[in-house]
Amino acid sequence: MTLTALGVVELRRLRRGETAPLQAVFDAMSPDARAQRYFTGMPRLPTPVLDALADVDGERHVALLASVDDRPVGVARYVVVAPGVAEIALEVADAFQGLGIGTRLVDALTTHAAAHGIRRVRATVLPGNEPSRRLVTRIGVQLSMVKGLLEGEGPLLRRDLQAAGKSLG
Ligand SMILES: CC(C)(COP(=O)(O)OP(=O)(O)OC[C@H]1O[C@@H](n2cnc3c(N)ncnc32)[C@H](O)[C@@H]1OP(=O)(O)O)[C@@H](O)C(=O)NCCC(=O)NCCS
Repeated sequence: MTLTALGVVELRRLRRGETAPLQAVFDAMSPDARAQRYFTGMPRLPTPVLDALADVDGERHVALLASVDDRPVGVARYVVVAPGVAEIALEVADAFQGLGIGTRLVDALTTHAAAHGIRRVRATVLPGNEPSRRLVTRIGVQLSMVKGLLEGEGPLLRRDLQAAGKSLG
């Protein structure tokens, strides 16, 4: 299946307190995918964690939801961790991975971030998580191994200039 074959992939901002789509995406992820996202075994999302993930405000904490035929299939978010610095995380339902949805989410998220004063991005990735490594390095995160995890920060790269490595300055 290709992204085009999926039909319309709709992206929209998650609303505050909207837990159902987050739960739906989590339910559609394998134990491995959950571990790659949360760095720990997660048989279910504890209620406080789910509530925190839905506690978006459009400024300090922003989440974008991707849906196909009204089915939630992916989420990308950032949390502002210092002035102008955002930590990025994302997940795509197993059956919809490798189709470009993660790329679409990250592009939309970083466009929103840039428009809201974010100049640096930060992320943590499990070693061997190649799709995630590619996504975050493309937007400017400079990863290095720290105590068994790849983590780092870097200047947010403008989407149109990512290939040339130009930051927003
Ligand atoms: C990481 C994740 C969100 C990527 O979403 P996705 O929709 O599968 O990503 P895309 O299809 O847009 O592909 C992103 C990049 O990974 C590459 N890629 C996709 N699947 C791949 C695979 N199996 N092996 C190697 N590279 C792969 C793509 O070619 C693309 O790279 P490019 O931009 O250089 O061409 C998704 O795999 C996922 O949810 N993983 C589990 C949770 C996770 O790891 N979250 C990230 C923690 S921050």
